[in-house]
Amino acid sequence: MPTPFTPISIRSLEISNRLWMSPMCTYSAAATGDATASPTDFHLAHYTARAAGGAGLVMIEATGVRADGRISPYDLGLWNDAQTDAFTRLAASIRAAGAVPAVQLAHAGRKASVDKPWLGGDPLDADRHGWNPVGPSPVPFPGHPEPAELTVTEIGEIVTAFAESAVRARAAGFDVVEVHAAHGYLLHSFLSPASNTRTDQYGGSFENRIRFPLEVIDAVRAVWPEEQPVFLRVSTTDWIDENPDDDRSGWTVDETVQFARIAAQHGIDLIDGSSGGTEPAPIPRNRDYQTRNSARIKAETGLTVAGVGRINDPAWAAELVADAHVDAVFLGRPLLRDASWINNAATDLGQQPRYIEQYDYAL
Ligand SMILES: Cc1cc2nc3c(=O)[nH]c(=O)nc-3n(C[C@H](O)[C@H](O)[C@H](O)COP(=O)(O)O)c2cc1C
Repeated sequence: MPTPFTPISIRSLEISNRLWMSPMCTYSAAATGDATASPTDFHLAHYTARAAGGAGLVMIEATGVRADGRISPYDLGLWNDAQTDAFTRLAASIRAAGAVPAVQLAHAGRKASVDKPWLGGDPLDADRHGWNPVGPSPVPFPGHPEPAELTVTEIGEIVTAFAESAVRARAAGFDVVEVHAAHGYLLHSFLSPASNTRTDQYGGSFENRIRFPLEVIDAVRAVWPEEQPVFLRVSTTDWIDENPDDDRSGWTVDETVQFARIAAQHGIDLIDGSSGGTEPAPIPRNRDYQTRNSARIKAETGLTVAGVGRINDPAWAAELVADAHVDAVFLGRPLLRDASWINNAATDLGQQPRYIEQYDYAL
């Protein structure tokens, strides 16, 4: 029976344990000049501390494949050489502290161009360094401006941008890229009928709604080394169909299971199961609200799956892994509260923590 500290191999990559840092925006990128959207000293300290804290893998926050694909003007991006240099330093620092460096590639779509959450998170216009968001259809996220509907040519340009960022991520030394197709951002907004009302080959049927995300997966897989993994973060449900008071249709767990199978045929190695984000919707409060969906994907497809969300207790993480509900666990807010959460969890579970040599005296 695996524990959270049993190593796992995906393709040729060995990951020393199964407790990983979940991608979390920090809104702290350089915001001016050539270095715009580059990691800063903040990112170096923040991610290195979590790697030194025992994470098997550290997933860098949503990183825009283009300037207009960032969530905010303070997000990371990976489309030029200055950014690639700064990411190279960051990946090396994470690796030196014992974790696998990974980066989440993203386009924020109709939810792009907002302020830092601690400044209110409001949509920003051009006067405040914002831009006009794009989406599958002119259906705004509540409280946001109407997105411009992407043309087929523009969709192709974004596919190319994902591939170009993946090439840069590899050059920077990352072992894993994750395609962000969750939380109502661009790829998820194509998957969901709540935000995608297109009538061309990118809208309508399930096959049409998954077309653009699959094109992105194919383009990233084509440039990513055969021996290294590509992860996919999906929202397993929009929480619309679960709500008896909502008569709309959203993206569902059934569709996620089908999509996961197809994504794996296109070279995805791990499904990272999150949820929600397309439309405001009530989310259940039970602790397995989201890991239950990941477990279902694993049970029905046999794919390698990660769980995330409210895994605040080492014993619960251990149960999820030991009972084969999920293969690995992403931790978000626990690692904001405590950079050494994972080493402390090792101690709690009677396992060996992984301290960097400078911290040997902590043992
Ligand atoms: C401040 C913050 C920023 C986040 N940014 C991202 C992100 O960049 N990409 C992503 O896929 N999820 C993002 N998330 C979601 C987390 O990765 C995670 O899935 C979520 O917080 C649930 O896990 P937790 O209960 O362990 O925090 C963010 C969450 C927080 C709290």
